[in-house]
Amino acid sequence: MVAYRARILNFPSVNRVEDVDGYLIVKNGTIKGVSVDKPVNEDIVDFSEFVVLPGFVDTHIHLPQLDVRGKWSCDLLSWLNDYIFPEEMKHLDPNYSAKKAREFFELLVKNGTTTALVYGPPSEESTDAAMQVAKESGLRVFMGQTLMDTNVPDELKTGVSEAKNALKRGVEKWSRGMVQYAITLRFAISCSMDLMKLAANIARSVNAIIQTHISEQKSEIETVRRMYGMKYASVYEHAGVLYPRTVLAHGVHLDNEELLLIKSRGVKISHCPSSNFFLHSGVMDMGAMDRYGIDVALGSDVAAGPFISMLPVLRDVYYANFISPIRAFYHLTLGGAKVLGIENVTGTLTSGKSADFTVLKVESMEEMSAEEILSNLMFLGDDRNVVATYVRGKEVWHR
Ligand code: GUN
Ligand code: ZN
Repeated sequence: MVAYRARILNFPSVNRVEDVDGYLIVKNGTIKGVSVDKPVNEDIVDFSEFVVLPGFVDTHIHLPQLDVRGKWSCDLLSWLNDYIFPEEMKHLDPNYSAKKAREFFELLVKNGTTTALVYGPPSEESTDAAMQVAKESGLRVFMGQTLMDTNVPDELKTGVSEAKNALKRGVEKWSRGMVQYAITLRFAISCSMDLMKLAANIARSVNAIIQTHISEQKSEIETVRRMYGMKYASVYEHAGVLYPRTVLAHGVHLDNEELLLIKSRGVKISHCPSSNFFLHSGVMDMGAMDRYGIDVALGSDVAAGPFISMLPVLRDVYYANFISPIRAFYHLTLGGAKVLGIENVTGTLTSGKSADFTVLKVESMEEMSAEEILSNLMFLGDDRNVVATYVRGKEVWHR
């Protein structure tokens, strides 16, 4: 057993923080409890100058876009054509993907992210190579090949029958453990109805996460309407994509009928405020998500989002949606775990859950309330605040 001496903050519900100046007790990677009293007969790790938070959950990030952050373009569709597709083509080489994956997961741990839902490279082999690296990183990762078969350069396309074999092998090989396969459809513009139906069927048959994008920009929505003659959410509904393990990114311009459909299917939303600011996509309405009771988590959406660190993403969710620091950290931790369906495993530092936590330095923390510490991290924080990152009780990174 190990006890970590620290200021320990937890976010058990949307607007609540628990603040304990005490000990986080961990045995074999599992949390045994949080206590004010010093436990006897245990190794003590002294983090008394630091704050310990549940590990950060990034519910939307693109691994093959690591090197194309901060590339300005006038809108989403031109940005994809000008920068993203050429970069993702480099990831047809599995060695390149493995190399970039090492940099990618190293950056995630350095930034205090312990769990991520990741869009992988555009081929089966490169995705498998990147997932192998994910496993070595020790992080908790859901990831899959980014599937496309229309309206993209030919090199990036995976046909339906090829996708079927790749997905079957992927979900079988990565079905349990810290790295699991997530069925990953780029979006309705670059996936045929047949490809989406296939992906939905396979995901449902094994209860895997499905991830895709929805209603990010007006021109994208018009293209979807022209292609399919229906609303964006109806396209996914028609394909069978909407089910309780579906994570839709953005959802900036969904109308009430679409929100109702999304809620009725138990679908979750990954809110990506930094990306929405970068591409001028608009402001996602968190109030509407609350009214419909839709679960919302946060995504960096690298590379449309410029930041790997989730702390600037919190700053942007504040500017977009005017939520409190406590609420922002809830969405980053337990809210993220809920959206991924792993709230019984991670997301809070409570007895029985995995010891996934982030150790952070905040100047003059001793005199601060919990809210002041969180506010400081949210408005001023980045990778420089992170002292160490733990997953399943194992230190995966330290300064
Ligand atoms: N829509 C389809 N693909 C993408 C992508 O890679 N990034 C973002 N932000 N939106 C998308
Ligand atoms: Zn994205």
